[in-house]
Amino acid sequence: MEKFIVHGGSPLSGSVNISGSKNASLPILAATLLTRETCVVRRVPDVSDTNYMLQILQNLGAEVERASGTVVIRCEKLRSHEAPYDLVRKMRASVCVMGPLLARHNRADVSLPGGCVIGDRPIDLHLRGLEGLGAEARVEGGNVRLEARYGLEGREIDMSGKHGATVLGTDNVMMAAVLAKGATVITGAACEPEVVDLAEFLISMGAKISGAGTPRIEIEGVAELGGVEHTVIPDRIEAGTFLVAGAMAAKERITVKRVEPRHIESLVDLLRRCGCPVEVGDGSISVGRAENPVGANVTTDPYPGFPTDMQAQMCALFATTPGTSVVRDTIFPQRFMHASEMKRMGADIQVEDGTAVIRGVEQLSAAPVMASDLRASAALVLAALNAKGATEISRVYHIDRGYENIDDKLIQLGAEIERVPA
Ligand code: EPZ
Repeated sequence: MEKFIVHGGSPLSGSVNISGSKNASLPILAATLLTRETCVVRRVPDVSDTNYMLQILQNLGAEVERASGTVVIRCEKLRSHEAPYDLVRKMRASVCVMGPLLARHNRADVSLPGGCVIGDRPIDLHLRGLEGLGAEARVEGGNVRLEARYGLEGREIDMSGKHGATVLGTDNVMMAAVLAKGATVITGAACEPEVVDLAEFLISMGAKISGAGTPRIEIEGVAELGGVEHTVIPDRIEAGTFLVAGAMAAKERITVKRVEPRHIESLVDLLRRCGCPVEVGDGSISVGRAENPVGANVTTDPYPGFPTDMQAQMCALFATTPGTSVVRDTIFPQRFMHASEMKRMGADIQVEDGTAVIRGVEQLSAAPVMASDLRASAALVLAALNAKGATEISRVYHIDRGYENIDDKLIQLGAEIERVPA
């Protein structure tokens, strides 16, 4: 295992290129199961989660080649319809192979994903949607076994849940419906840019989809899909994470490049409300520290609302913002593992019922802290940027799941961060 040592107080400047989106790449890689022809996917970030997905596809029989950010996949001869526990338990997002396997084989055996520290991660909405298309689902020995004995039939499917729409659930149903007989209408669909990117990938393969990016997606099933070349959208959460780093520690400004600004409008608006100067360019965004920083009240919401994946990072900013800020996570109410670690650094954060009340302190101080999940870990790195002294962050493998070379990129901006054996 490795840890980061972050020496706080180094001002950031310059610019950084943002990688392709992890959360768009994962369902798109799964969607290559839907054709026997070759797919070329560009700008796939080299992070553990995409590597796990490629292992799962190879385990199913896919031929995979990877050259830096470009992945070439051919799922011509699949030898299995099973995604085994030892791979799925490493990455919950593996569930998004269910839809394509069902569409390809009329069968899918996928291990039930474990929970994780951000909370229970049920898949009831996925199963309700796939059953709506004619699959039978049963749980046996920790696996979900899906079978569509008479094939998949399109119909109207409601995907909304008590915490709003489901991103991967929408993806799963969309990937099953594109090869189903007849028309499918998905209501209560997730509107995230990553869902739109998947839809565009499927349309390039020959799928008939309209309405992606809205709560109502219409799909006309086709007999087969072909190979495709596609470039994944920029990672809006990585971009947002670096924007918060700039809001906390920029000397003047830092700039994130190769981004799609409209994908993170909610964050840009919030940083401006907090007093940060933000300039939006064509494919880039620049941010600086607020001269008169003010806290804010923010609640996470499905897209285009404020993303839950940026909640921990905002807690890091609010920890040293004068006044009181309130952060409420309606999507993952338990997603506050970062709070207890930030308190070890001197933050004043009280968490109750999915809501964090944060009273800004003058400065955090270095302490040994432990990464717990992807975004909480990134938030600890942000908190360390301005902390007094050298903060040690252990279990950085959590960060490597979803951030491509975050330490190198921060060093490029002037941060003093080193990766050392734990
Ligand atoms: C995706 O997860 C993202 N992961 C998550 O990012 C992100 O936090 C989440 O969407 C919400 O935006 C990927 O895209 C790989 P959901 P997903 O189904 O699809 C409940 C990161 O840090 N729910 O949209 O698994 C669920 O408990 C990761 O990059 C059900 O109740 O999340 C949650 O409260 C973390 N039943 C809400 O819906 C279901 O069957 C939204 O979850 C499915 C979900």
